Amino acid sequence: MKNLPIKKILIWGLGLFVLIQLVPVNRDNPPVTEEIQLPQHIKTTFERSCYDCHSNKTKWPWYSYVAPVSWLLSKHVQDGRKHLNFTEWDKYDAKKRANKLEEILDEIEDGTMPLPGYLRLHPEAVLSGADIDAIADWYDSLADSLENEAETSSDDAEDHD
Ligand code: HEC
Repeated sequence: MKNLPIKKILIWGLGLFVLIQLVPVNRDNPPVTEEIQLPQHIKTTFERSCYDCHSNKTKWPWYSYVAPVSWLLSKHVQDGRKHLNFTEWDKYDAKKRANKLEEILDEIEDGTMPLPGYLRLHPEAVLSGADIDAIADWYDSLADSLENEAETSSDDAEDHD
């Protein structure tokens, strides 16, 4: 190992880098089936901070075309969409929608979402205190109507017994 073959290592490394670019990466934006209805100021915030991972309207940056980073991004997006998709809102029933909305507020208030790694590359997606307050206010205004809805549907269930 006296003469470490630096050149060889570099060439192999480069070759490997080129090769891994050939691995197919899923960067699909599937069709929007139904988009969540939101007041405009909330929608703008979610579009700015959440839509890349929680919608079918992902903006894929240039580095999402470069492996191995692309693998990680693709995985985050597929994972994010599976957990919450603002553009396949029709896939959730009333109860699930209510749960998702509650989780959204929780995640935002805890600072778990948007993912910190994402914020480092997308400083524009950082939620300000005012953004979070606006989302909390919006959620409170919804919570009342959601509660009424839940009561009505449990009444319905009782009727069927
Ligand atoms: C970089 C991608 C990314 C961004 C941006 C992002 N999320 Fe997520 N989110 C994920 C991933 C991945 C998961 C699933 C794994 C996890 O919980 O960490 C997730 C999970 C969630 C969940 C849990 C849903 C469930 O039912 O399990 C909620 C709620 C959520 N995100 C809300 C948001 C909101 C609101 C925003 C914007 C303010 C946001 N996320 C921004 C990637 C992202």
